[in-house]
Amino acid sequence: MSAERKEYKRITTNSLIEMKQDGEKISMLTAYDYSMAKAVDAANIDVILVGDSASNVMSGHETTVPITLDQMIYHATAVIRAVKRALVVVDLPFGSYQSDAKEALRSAIRIMKESGAHAVKIEGGEEVKGSMERILNAGIPVMGHLGLTPQSIYKFGTYSVRAREVEEAEKLLQDAQLLEQLGCFALVLEKIPATLAAQVAKTVNIPVIGIGAGNQVDGQVLVLHDMLGLTTEFSPRFLRRYMNLYDQMTDAIGRYVTDVKANDFPNEKEQY
Ligand code: KIV
Repeated sequence: MSAERKEYKRITTNSLIEMKQDGEKISMLTAYDYSMAKAVDAANIDVILVGDSASNVMSGHETTVPITLDQMIYHATAVIRAVKRALVVVDLPFGSYQSDAKEALRSAIRIMKESGAHAVKIEGGEEVKGSMERILNAGIPVMGHLGLTPQSIYKFGTYSVRAREVEEAEKLLQDAQLLEQLGCFALVLEKIPATLAAQVAKTVNIPVIGIGAGNQVDGQVLVLHDMLGLTTEFSPRFLRRYMNLYDQMTDAIGRYVTDVKANDFPNEKEQY
């Protein structure tokens, strides 16, 4: 028999910790604009991530490296206008937090003040400890991100599964514990072996949200455009497509083009 789920009118960082304690899985998706965020929030998602994957799916870049802090704030501001229930977390983009802790804090403050977001997400462990501490000390909630960290793609050279080797797996587990000690409220694990992700989720008390990390973690995140089938060229094993939106859109648009060409649109009822 499944336990009754608590009703949450508004999701906070504390709600997520409560969900982990209650064994309720956390749902998380990305969104980058007002209209999509409105639909995602209406479907009762727990967390909306304004991910730097906007660089790929919104701007067509090959990596997440080019997106700027100003662009992230633009996306976050639009999402925040739509959201009534979900916790909105915004990625600190590449180059906005790595050079020093003061710059990291300035970037995080800009996101919080200019967009009205509820938290920021940062990729990395020990290497970004100083930046995380500074941001957390200012009272800004931070979500960590370990495993495949796409901002480091030029260091990894590939988007393949991370932490298969013992040494990297041990470092990841240590980093997860460090992020918990620093005060991160949750952690994303991307593309790592399911057994390792399960071990991390058992070891730390903060919620662990996986993408390509199996189901023995505390929640799941996907990129919205991928799970809706709006992107077609990206098909990793972990991606479940719930729609083929690209096909449905091109079909609808094709029918509109046909109607316009045939002077069938607008008809008499569709004019003044
Ligand atoms: O930017 C993003 O969409 C992300 C998710 C893949 C977790 O970081």
